[in-house]
Amino acid sequence: MTTPPPLSAQGCPMLHGEHLATRPQKVYDQLRTAGPAGWAQIAPGVHALVVTSHRAAVTLLNDTSTYSKDARRWQALASGEVPQDSPVLGLMGFRPSVLYADGDVHARLRWAMDDCIARINPHELHEITCRSALTLVGRVIEKGRADLMGDIADTLPLLVFAELLGCTPELAARMVRACQDLISAGPQAAQGAVDFAGVLHELVQLRRHQPGQDLTSWMVGHPAQLTDDEAINQLYCSVGAGVIPTAAWMAWALHLLLRDDSYAGNLASGTLTVRRALEKALWERSPMANFSVHYARHDTHLYGVPIPAGVPVLISHAAANTDPSLAPGLGYDNRSHLAWSAGPHRCPAVSQATVIAQTGIETVLDQLWDMELALPDEQITLRHGPFHQCPTQMPVTFRSKSAARIRAAAAPTGGTA
Ligand code: HEM
Repeated sequence: MTTPPPLSAQGCPMLHGEHLATRPQKVYDQLRTAGPAGWAQIAPGVHALVVTSHRAAVTLLNDTSTYSKDARRWQALASGEVPQDSPVLGLMGFRPSVLYADGDVHARLRWAMDDCIARINPHELHEITCRSALTLVGRVIEKGRADLMGDIADTLPLLVFAELLGCTPELAARMVRACQDLISAGPQAAQGAVDFAGVLHELVQLRRHQPGQDLTSWMVGHPAQLTDDEAINQLYCSVGAGVIPTAAWMAWALHLLLRDDSYAGNLASGTLTVRRALEKALWERSPMANFSVHYARHDTHLYGVPIPAGVPVLISHAAANTDPSLAPGLGYDNRSHLAWSAGPHRCPAVSQATVIAQTGIETVLDQLWDMELALPDEQITLRHGPFHQCPTQMPVTFRSKSAARIRAAAAPTGGTA
């Protein structure tokens, strides 16, 4: 029997840092001992309630009269108890976008978000993703080794977004650089967030005056009549909510395909196998591990657990999906997992994220069909933050091949990073 991960000074499980990065399921087991929801430290000096039960998560996500998404209700933040430079503020601090809105305000912002996302042509999205993936593979194909995270998965969704947003090549290069800093969650992350917001501001100005067929133009021209600030924050939210989970999802599905004999032996049979690996990854490795932050509007209880008003309550999509009380033998084709969340804030981009992840994986496998994972599983660690279940690196080796074979197909996009 292994020893459980250490507790914080306040006696809570630590939903961040080294132990979550190396043994996430142990931390979820520790959290489950408190019942359907329990207190956790999510960053130094920051505490939240975390729901680990699938049933309690579904109840909360659909109970909009008791729970709000408005981060301005966070009492510890309002009273200055949360460190100003806390790494969780990038995603938990209030912004005027769908993610933090309730009721009619959410309905208006979600109307604009849903309509804009629905206008993305799936064939074009497939073509952009394929071309961007080829650009990235072209940079490593002659080396015989690559890091699937740093070289491919982290950058692919960014290249795709840069094109979907209608960035000029110069704005695309700046956006990719800013988001890479932001994603690193290192000392340059705060500057990355500022730079990214600056790029979106310029883009919104540009597309208000020169509209095109892109997400930015559709957002600023939508009949919901968003202000510039709202349009910028809606776009910030779609990239912020989309990039890391899509990268993590690709990585876990590729990991399954390369590691698991029942998949690896079947790779030649193509699409079906990739789809199954993607579905399985959503159950076992929810890319958005702990998020869907809510605040009780008044003191309440959730299946017997006291929930005080104004405290952040996170849904552990990762723990809910692996809840031991779920019916055993649920097939991976069953869609009751919570990787996309549930209720009014369920991810609006499921089919678009699927096109990006599936096309990205198929393109990489087409070119690097002989790749093998170069690290044993126990050495694949996660990024340290509480929100994403995302590997830091996933090195692979393969027989080196000539880049000439893919250069022609990979026309330059925003891929100047
Ligand atoms: C193209 C890529 C993606 C885009 C554009 C996108 C966009 C968004 C947006 C705009 C929201 C906020 C919806 C609202 O509050 O009404 C959202 C929520 C969410 N998305 Fe996605 N997403 C993408 C990929 C993913 C992936 C790959 C996952 C994980 C499998 C994911 C999981 C979630 C979850 C769990 C939420 C709920 C967050 C919350 O309520 O706080 N998303 N997404």
